[in-house]
Amino acid sequence: MKAIQIVEESGPDSALALGELPEPEASHMLTPGAGVLVEVHAAGVSFPELLQTRGQYQMKPALPFVPGSEVAGVVRSAPEGAQVKAGDRVAAFCALGGFAETAVAPEFFTFALSPKLDFAQGSGLILNYHTAYFALALRGRLKAGESVLVHGAGGGVGTATLQVAKGLGASTIALVSSAAKREVAEQAGADEVLLLGDGWKDQVLELSGGGVDMVLDPVGGDRFTDSLRSLREGGRLVVVGFTGGAIPEVRVNRLLLRNTEVVGAGWGAYVMSKPELNREIGAAVNRMVDEGFVSPVVGERFPLERAAEALKALDERRATGKVVLDVRAA
Ligand SMILES: NC(=O)c1ccc[n+]([C@@H]2O[C@H](COP(=O)([O-])OP(=O)(O)OC[C@H]3O[C@@H](n4cnc5c(N)ncnc54)[C@H](OP(=O)(O)O)[C@@H]3O)[C@@H](O)[C@H]2O)c1
Repeated sequence: MKAIQIVEESGPDSALALGELPEPEASHMLTPGAGVLVEVHAAGVSFPELLQTRGQYQMKPALPFVPGSEVAGVVRSAPEGAQVKAGDRVAAFCALGGFAETAVAPEFFTFALSPKLDFAQGSGLILNYHTAYFALALRGRLKAGESVLVHGAGGGVGTATLQVAKGLGASTIALVSSAAKREVAEQAGADEVLLLGDGWKDQVLELSGGGVDMVLDPVGGDRFTDSLRSLREGGRLVVVGFTGGAIPEVRVNRLLLRNTEVVGAGWGAYVMSKPELNREIGAAVNRMVDEGFVSPVVGERFPLERAAEALKALDERRATGKVVLDVRAA
């Protein structure tokens, strides 16, 4: 099969090589001896893959390895008792190995793909939408009628968060850095979109009538203090990532003064050992697909051999929505 490997940790320009590899066995590292084999049509491109090209991600497989944490495609074989069977269209989280024509995923990370979604959308459904649901509903305790400010709202996690928040009955304010990303956030269904710049915090306070109930932050950096100031009493700031580079620090007196919380949401490590929780989140996300709230916004698409360009779109802050590799494009 054709596959992209990371052969050195020198960044997206030079770390990748396209090659012919043997097909994987139906065995996943999380479920040794068992796994769902998926004929990959689309592979989602995400920040972990970018970090892996520099050896900066927490999971450090021995070189060379095939990156790619999530895919959409057709099941070739599935273990007995699995929720999916040969021939089913699925979205699957494989953690590694997705940038290839065939990938293997644990049964509990493989979900039926609604006929409403194409393969490109399916390849953006797990990492971002399961994270959004985990962060908003389970970690942040978001309730219907509450309001959420979403940072990086034109990106993968951001667009997913806008849609899942709506599915949970909340209202959303999106914060983005450019006019192009404003359009994407609007397309993802944001109620209000603000451009990053002086005064965004005051605009949030005004739009929300004194503060939002939740801030969802995949960006971090120097906007953190203003995020805390954007919360109303009892509000929660949910930390999801640090694309901005710097890891913020909190002066905890701010939390005490306004009775607010900072909550961490690390989806992957938490759910990996909890098959039932994955089924619950998968069912909730699929329900939101059926109800029309969730429809992944696909940004740039590249054929498999141009994976480096896909990673550079993330690296250069150009990505909007989900960046996708069309693995079986002619
Ligand atoms: N906690 C978890 O379980 C979990 C799960 C999935 C992903 N994540 C993390 O969430 C983060 C976002 O992932 P994503 O897929 O949404 O990425 P993405 O599509 O590239 O979006 C990230 C957004 O961050 C903003 N940003 C600010 N400074 C940036 C910079 N220097 N370089 C790149 N982007 C910058 C950009 O928005 P503006 O230009 O509008 O500011 C961009 O749209 C990543 O750190 C990822 O590892 C965490």
